[in-house]
Amino acid sequence: PFSVFNQLRETTPIRYDHERQCWDLFLYEDVHEILKTHAVFSSERKRTLEANTILTMDPPRHTKMRNIVNKAFTVKSVQNLAPRIQEIVHQLIDLIIQQGQMEVVRDLSAPLPVIMIAELLGVPKEDRLLFKEWSDVAIKGVDQYTEEHLAAVAAEHKKAQIELSQYFTDMMNQRRTEPKDDLITALLRAEVDGEKLTDKEIIDFCILLLIAGNETTTNLITHGIRLLTEQPDIQEQVAQDSALIPSFIEETLRYYPPVLGVSRVAKQEIEIYGQKIHQGEVVMAWVAAANRDPRVFSDPDTFVVNRTPNHHLTFGKGIHFCLGAPLARLEAKIAFEEIFKRLTEIRLQKGTKVEINPSPLLYGLKEYPVTFQTV
Ligand code: HEM
Repeated sequence: PFSVFNQLRETTPIRYDHERQCWDLFLYEDVHEILKTHAVFSSERKRTLEANTILTMDPPRHTKMRNIVNKAFTVKSVQNLAPRIQEIVHQLIDLIIQQGQMEVVRDLSAPLPVIMIAELLGVPKEDRLLFKEWSDVAIKGVDQYTEEHLAAVAAEHKKAQIELSQYFTDMMNQRRTEPKDDLITALLRAEVDGEKLTDKEIIDFCILLLIAGNETTTNLITHGIRLLTEQPDIQEQVAQDSALIPSFIEETLRYYPPVLGVSRVAKQEIEIYGQKIHQGEVVMAWVAAANRDPRVFSDPDTFVVNRTPNHHLTFGKGIHFCLGAPLARLEAKIAFEEIFKRLTEIRLQKGTKVEINPSPLLYGLKEYPVTFQTV
């Protein structure tokens, strides 16, 4: 999609799409401004799931709700998860080496975030598969905003959501009698303006974490491996110097962003480039276009493994900046450290046709089979 984004950014910095009924903006400066200016560009947008979450809230409620979970997701808190992430990655790569080949999505990049979020929430091991199935369904079509799409996936969503809700309800009841050191227990204890959260609010929070964190992190790791196979010289370079892994991950986020764009709703009339955006109209901020804006990034279509600074907008900006960014970064860092420690000569399996998931807002691959040698 990137050549299209490049072209649109350079020819039509703003446009109204009649079919999708929204404004599109492509320049870094504008995407940045929209995300930062939450007083004008509201997050109280149309929701695909019937969940009311911080992702679709404005202050003051947003601030208070986000504060409840903030602490669990800071760089410092997630650092405590490092040994466990390490262990999971190690086991996954043991299996991959036993198999002798790897389908990246199935064998590594999909299981890792699901296992981590399940454990954070307090889901026991034996329920993990079930959990993954629900979250896959819940994710499906979450990025589709047209009525037809919504109707088509609504039934499936509804079913998964009912089952997930039931599951979380049982978990909550269990934690009420027997609190544990997990997010569900923390959410049960939390108060906003002196009031406890309702069961529905807690369930919605859990569902949000599933939806926001799983496929995105999966795609980050998949794209990273994809890049290593597309540019073997970079694979070589990072293999020789593992200190490059964090900047390699940041550049992967910029270059192949798992989230292509985010939407907002205009709270008031506002004029941009002589175009009047009316109150209530939807505005799309195209992160993927902004990330390759030559006004901000030199040589933007080149993957520069040690690009500094690298102020990509892949995790958003401002008050809704991705809550899970430290976790996603840590999972990716540990995964790539382990990959480089144990695997070499990673190549796309011959004859593979790489398929991009058909989603307007998320950017990911269905599967990515690779061959490798062990170190
Ligand atoms: C918000 C991207 C991983 C939880 C966001 C936003 C973006 C984003 C762009 C802002 C949306 C907006 O402004 O409307 C990503 C990417 C990820 C990732 C690219 C992986 C590479 C995660 C993970 C979690 C998570 C692992 C949780 C475990 C959230 C939550 C929000 C959010 C809860 C809402 C924050 C708020 O509204 O205040 N993410 N995300 N994300 N993300 Fe992530």
